[in-house]
Amino acid sequence: MEVIVKESFEEMSKAAARVVAKVLNLKPNAVLGLATGSTPLGLYQELARMHRDEGLDFSQVTTFNLDEYVGLTRTHPQSYHYFMQENLFRHINVPQQNIYIPSGTTDNYAAFCQWYEQRIRECGGIDLQVLGIGSDGHIAFNEPGSSLGSRTRIKTLARQTIDDNARFFSGPEEVPVYAITMGVGTILEARKILLLANGKKKAAAVAAAIEGPVTSMITASALQLHRDAMCTLDREAAGELRMLDYYEWVQAKMPNAP
Ligand code: F6R
Repeated sequence: MEVIVKESFEEMSKAAARVVAKVLNLKPNAVLGLATGSTPLGLYQELARMHRDEGLDFSQVTTFNLDEYVGLTRTHPQSYHYFMQENLFRHINVPQQNIYIPSGTTDNYAAFCQWYEQRIRECGGIDLQVLGIGSDGHIAFNEPGSSLGSRTRIKTLARQTIDDNARFFSGPEEVPVYAITMGVGTILEARKILLLANGKKKAAAVAAAIEGPVTSMITASALQLHRDAMCTLDREAAGELRMLDYYEWVQAKMPNAP
């Protein structure tokens, strides 16, 4: 796994945006896997700026989001549909018909999940998957104990995730208990993975994911099995990495690598 440590959230977000832009420059019709939450907000702001000021073009891009709360309509202010529209899609030029987000209001979740996986395959698979990490080590809503081979399905959120996400709602009792989420197996099929993490609260999960054993108890640790996974961190999120000096050494030596 390539580990890149930046001094601030802003620098981390800009580095991540450069990775996305590079993928789009090489493949203008790339398929992007997208995350919600606080972590990618700086990345989305920077992508919007690059679109506005530098003409970064999303007109041929297709996007698949990782997850959605069950029971929230697409216009609910805490739904991930609403989040994506407000924080990214209304600022760039991805065609609406190329945007896929799991439905939180379908009457047949099993059929929807199968269709979502099929749609990803029909679109050629995900070229770049953007991920955040939960303080319990989850990616998407693959909570501790999720199978590392799991596919898109309904998950019951962990108590810790409900408490962490209560900040977006009027209280923990308002947070939906279920989510529809891509599985770990679905995520691992992306050609390239970009995990972002910032802040002290993520330091333990980040260290477990990058340097701990591969375990379903920290689903982000499954990224160790991926051959093109990159982890972009701010200084605080990197705070518990034992091999931090080495990762920084690697980055410093990179320009002269044969
Ligand atoms: C959101 C998602 C989650 C978040 C994670 C971190 O689509 O898949 O795994 O990435 O819970 O959330 P934040 O960024 O709010 O700390």
